[in-house]
Amino acid sequence: MWIHPLWQTATIFLGWYVFYTGWKRFETNSLGIQKPFQWKLHVSIGKASLYMWIYGAAVGAAAAWVKWRAFGITGIHFLLGAAIVILALFGYWSGLHMDVHKKRRKILPLIHGSNNFVLLLLSMISLVTGIEAMIRLL
Ligand code: HEM
Ligand code: HEM
Repeated sequence: MWIHPLWQTATIFLGWYVFYTGWKRFETNSLGIQKPFQWKLHVSIGKASLYMWIYGAAVGAAAAWVKWRAFGITGIHFLLGAAIVILALFGYWSGLHMDVHKKRRKILPLIHGSNNFVLLLLSMISLVTGIEAMIRLL
């Protein structure tokens, strides 16, 4: 039962690091400040973090099922989890698309970056609601 909280906390740390590498690209694309962008590193740790997010959500749901034979008992934590999975799927698809079809872009990188920023913000709230769930339910 500890796997899910520890796993998702690690994922959030990795996610912020991915964001940090992506931010450099944002500075180049949108602020006109030339910065080196570690494209391959960003793509590989970005993929790893989004796999971890989705897998972690599935483990949380599985743990809830084993314990309560129901989904959604954690209320807002569950709803945040569902939103996070949808954002992660879009973040993954948009990143993969830009990686496979490389060209100069402005709008899709912005949508991709904002999507993943919202994902990180919701995950920070998940951290709080997750700790609340631990105190209340475990
Ligand atoms: C937590 C996960 C991720 C975060 C926080 C993140 C964040 C960002 C940010 C902030 C940018 C800069 C956007 C801009 O220039 O306005 C960016 C660009 C980019 N990301 Fe990600 N990303 C993530 C995952 C991924 C994944 C999984 C892939 C590929 C499969 C990917 C591929 C790319 C590519 C190729 C660019 C450059 C696009 C371009 O400038 O044309 N990212 N990302
Ligand atoms: C950041 C992304 C996270 C996602 C997407 C996520 C997702 C989920 C989902 C879908 C469930 C099933 C809830 C239900 O059916 O009501 C769940 C359960 C749970 N989550 Fe999370 N969660 C995240 C982070 C965290 C964190 C950081 C913690 C704690 C520090 C946490 C603690 C819990 C607890 C205690 C449960 C109850 C079931 C169990 O013991 O595993 N979660 N989570």
